[in-house]
Order: sequence, then C-alpha cells, then structure tokens
Amino acid sequence: MCGIVGYVGKQKAAPLIIEGLKRLEYRGYDSAGVAVLQDGKFVVAKKTGRVANLEQEATRHRLNGTHGIGHTRWATHGGVTDANAHPHVSSDGKIALIHNGVIENYVAMKKFLLEKGYTFKSETDTEVLCNLIAYHYAKEPAGANGDSRFVESVRKSLRHAEGTYGIVVMAIDAPGELVTARKGSPLILGIGDGESLVASDVSALISRTQNVVYLKDGEIAHLREQNFSITTLSSGAVSPVVDKVTWSIKDAERGDHAHFMEKEIFEQPVALENAMRGRFSEDGSTANFGGLNITANELRSIDRLVFLACGTALHACMVTEHLIERFARIPVECDYASEFRYRNSPLFHNTLFFAMSQSGETIDTLAAVREAKRKGYKVLAINNVVGSTIAREADGGIYQHVGPEVGVASTKAFTSQLLIGAMLALYLARLRDMSFSDGTQLVQALKAAPDLVRTALKEAPRIREIAKRYAHYTDMLFLGRLSLFPIALEGALKLKEISYIHAEGYPAAEMKHGPIALISEKCPSVFFVPKGEMLNKIVSSMQEIKARKGPIIAVVTDGVELPPALADEVITIPDCHEAVLPIVASIPVQLLSYYIAVERGCDVDKPRNLAKSVTVE
Ligand code: F6R
Repeated sequence: MCGIVGYVGKQKAAPLIIEGLKRLEYRGYDSAGVAVLQDGKFVVAKKTGRVANLEQEATRHRLNGTHGIGHTRWATHGGVTDANAHPHVSSDGKIALIHNGVIENYVAMKKFLLEKGYTFKSETDTEVLCNLIAYHYAKEPAGANGDSRFVESVRKSLRHAEGTYGIVVMAIDAPGELVTARKGSPLILGIGDGESLVASDVSALISRTQNVVYLKDGEIAHLREQNFSITTLSSGAVSPVVDKVTWSIKDAERGDHAHFMEKEIFEQPVALENAMRGRFSEDGSTANFGGLNITANELRSIDRLVFLACGTALHACMVTEHLIERFARIPVECDYASEFRYRNSPLFHNTLFFAMSQSGETIDTLAAVREAKRKGYKVLAINNVVGSTIAREADGGIYQHVGPEVGVASTKAFTSQLLIGAMLALYLARLRDMSFSDGTQLVQALKAAPDLVRTALKEAPRIREIAKRYAHYTDMLFLGRLSLFPIALEGALKLKEISYIHAEGYPAAEMKHGPIALISEKCPSVFFVPKGEMLNKIVSSMQEIKARKGPIIAVVTDGVELPPALADEVITIPDCHEAVLPIVASIPVQLLSYYIAVERGCDVDKPRNLAKSVTVE
C-alpha cells in the first residue's frame, strides 16, 4: 500500500526511481510523484493516475539530480489529486517527504503548525508531517546529540507522530543524504556499490543491489552515497544486519504474459515444487519445517490452534482448519485478524497461534499477532516475503518460497498456502496418531500436486471460451462443500476483485437458506462437484438451481457423471487426494475470473481501489 523509493548515488536519480515505482505500482496507483534535489532546490513532478503519466510529466521537469525520492499512492487522507500526490515539500521549501501509512494526530499537528505560520497546499496528513519536520529542522542546532541536524529533526518530529509510517525525507541543506524511518510500514535499505537506496519492497531495489537491510519499527536510517547508519527513535545506535536477496529481477518481471496474474497462475506447478522442496522426511512419512522453533513435545501438548489472516490468506486458513481437524484431530479456529484484535475473545491455555500472510505486512494481521503475543501466546507465521515484519515478530514460522507475487489478486501465494497447510496437517498428525503408512500415502499425494495442477491448467483454452459466454453477467454464486467451501469463497473473491462482478461463496447446501432467492437465468452458479460421499447431495443442490433456471458451471473431478443437461458448462479437473483437491480446484476458478476480467476489459493487475499488501487499518 503506497510504494516508496529513494536513491542517493552517482546516477541520475529520477529514471531509477521511476523504474522502481513501476515495480511497486501494485502497491497503489492513484497517483505518483518524484522529487530530486538539484541546483540547491527541490524539483518535483507529480501526476494523478499511473506511473506512466508521471514519466511524461518528469521529462518536462528536466530532473538531473543524483539524489531523490519517489512515491506511488493509494489514497487514504485526501482525494486523488495532483496536490495530494507525494512527494510533499514543506511551506518553507526546506524539507521534502514521501510517506506510507496514516498519521492519526495530524489535525492537532496541523493546528500547531498553522499557528507557527506554516501553510498547506494539500489535504494530506503527510504534508503535515513534512512541515513538522521543517519546523524542527529550523529550530535544531547543527550537530545536536552527536547526530546530524537533519536526523535529529526527523527523530523529534516522529516522537510526536501517532499512527503508522514509512517515510523518506530530503533536506535542502543536505545534498547526498536521505533520512528514512518506519513504524508499521515496511522499508528496506539497498546497499549498493557507491550508492544507497530505500524502498517499501525489495522488487524496487533488486535491479541495483541484492544486499539489503530490513529496517525495523522504531528505527531511523541515515543514507549517504558511500555509507549508512541506523539509530532508534530514542537515539540508540543499531548494528545493522545485511541480508542477501535470493531471487533476481527476472522473477519480478512479466515476461511474455499479458498480466502478472496470468504469469503467476501458470507458475503454480513450479511454485508448489519450490514450496515443498526439502520439506519431506527421509523416510517419506511426514513433513519437516526448519524454522518452527517449537519442539515436537510442545506441539503434542497443544489443545487448540487459532489461525489469523485476512482475505485470500484466511480462505487458505479455512482449508487448513479442515485438514488439521481431519488428520491431526486438533480443534482449529480461523479468525479475521481485523476482528480478533478487537474482539477480546476468551483464549485457552495450550493454544498455538498461526498468522498467515503472503506479504507479512498486512497491518490487521500484524496487530493480531502482537495482540496474541501480548497475551502470552506463541505465534508462528506462514509468509511469503522473507524478512517481512510478521516473519520477524513471530516466534517461528514457515516461508512459502514462491518468489515475488506481483498481481494484486493472489494466486500462487494462495495455492502454496494451501500446500503448506496440508503439510502442516500431515506433520501434526504424524506427531499424534497418524500411522506410518497413512503418512507415506499423504506424502505421495502432496508430491503429486504440481503435476495435477499442470493437468488442470491444460483446460485454460476451454475456460477462456466459457469466460466469453459469462462475462456479461452481473451476479454469480460459487458453491462448494467441506474443504471446497473456502475455495468457493476464494472463487467469489477473485471474480469480484478483478472483474467487478458481484459474487458470493456459500456452502452448497446453505444456498437454500437465502441465496437461492437470487437465482434466475441472470445469476449463474459455479459448483464444485468432486467424487465422493457428498456427490449426490451436491447434485441435489444443482437440481434446485436448475429448477429455477439458474445457469450452472460445474467443476467436476475426472470420472464424475452428471445427469444430462444439469450443467451448462463442465470443467474437468483430475481426481485426487482430498488434501490436494482444494489446490487443484482453485485453478479453474482462478482462470475463469482472470479470463472474465480480460473479456470485460478490466485492468487485471491493478483492480480499482485495491492495492497489494494493506498496511493501513
Ligand atoms: C486477494 C488478496 C487479499 C490478500 C489480503 C491479505 O486476492 O490478495 O485478499 O489475501 O489482503 O494479504 P496478505 O496475505 O499479504 O496478508
């Protein structure tokens, strides 16, 4: 949510910053801006809309400086206008600032600053913080506290700031310097060869350097061309740890695909292979996770698990709940992280928490993790982004290892969460009463997942044809049972977020308790129809829809025979083990949503109002 890039070095800053912003556009695309310090003044270009608009605007401004900051915005305070776009410059012209997050007490700050003679051009909380830094900068004696006047004025201002922020600041009298600080919004420093960078996401740095430092909450970094230093808000020195990013720029590029979402859908077989690599025991009967930081005995004594997540990740948790309860017989509860943090539900001893989050930065999930930890519980995390805040704050965890997910609509991260959830169910079950041979069978089933997904993806051309016939509808239902109910929720979420068709997911039998009122020839239903004990019951639900003239798209497993003319469209997926079925069944609904959105001319990778990684409440 909001993309941030800062650069100080020998190259022209603006083109590098704009290139970085393009990679961050998935974090917000309401407006974008860049500021460089050149000839003793800030030159700022900003524009509503996409980074491409900014690129044109920037050429008009002849941005030659080698030191600058850039931002792509997801609006919180203030509408989508050029004036509200970042960077902001203080009214005395001394400070320029970009910001991700929300300054909650900006009204009181603004009142104070107006009294001091500062003026404002925008409606944003960011411009208020920018002027507060200018106020302290004007008052600060040079070299106070052993630190630069620049760093000290940022530190003083942030002590007054309530809310969340990831900021990068330039000062007019500090050429070749950037100050950056975070609380609740991610920032990563890039340590290059004779240059330093900062960004809200590794993908904006990776073309310049693979050496990164993950800034922590409450830390302030001072970046110069040749070196950098980190202190805390209370001014204590920090010894930075430089990490090496393991993926390359190619992983964050779209290649020949029309959209990142398409690329990521088709990457899933390899993503699943990566997520399971090295994670099965030598005897082939269980899973292994290196970083859980919890002993087998501790896990055996757990009475209850609670999974916290938002959106798609919560759907993955719901499937995981089903599998853990089924195989390991441990009661599991899944909760919206945003509700858990305020609900104050009674918690039991011997409860273990899991937080699932692709980005590891979702503010609601992070706040829920902190709440559970505050109450004395151990929290383990399942994340994709290495070094993310949730990964660092959790007591241990599992990385998904599927590389960067750029499409706003989650696909490969989701199926890898499903896989890891199934592996976790296996691991916990084998610590309790699952037999060696049942464990071996489950391992074999999980290992088959990538190939089963390859087979499911072969239906893409047919699904594209189906999508053409269904793209004009305005409402759709997704119906599934047991572990496919969360996949129905996920199918509905995918469709609504990228194609703007109203869609809802229900347990198939629940449909007759209300949603059936929506059914007519204008409201199609997507049914998951796997082989097995529920088959006849699902077919009955389909008959109820057909009797009311509702069009039906059936996703059936190989070998299911439906009564003639019951389904208008049939998509076949391979028959597979119940632990893998949710993964395989996700493929046709991802493809269906994707092709419907393309057919409707929607901007698939940048759906309206959305941004990847929601770092504001
Ligand atoms: C939908 C989607 C979102 C995210 C949610 C949580 O396609 O991607 O619903 O799943 O915002 O994000 P993470 O997993 O990063 O915490």
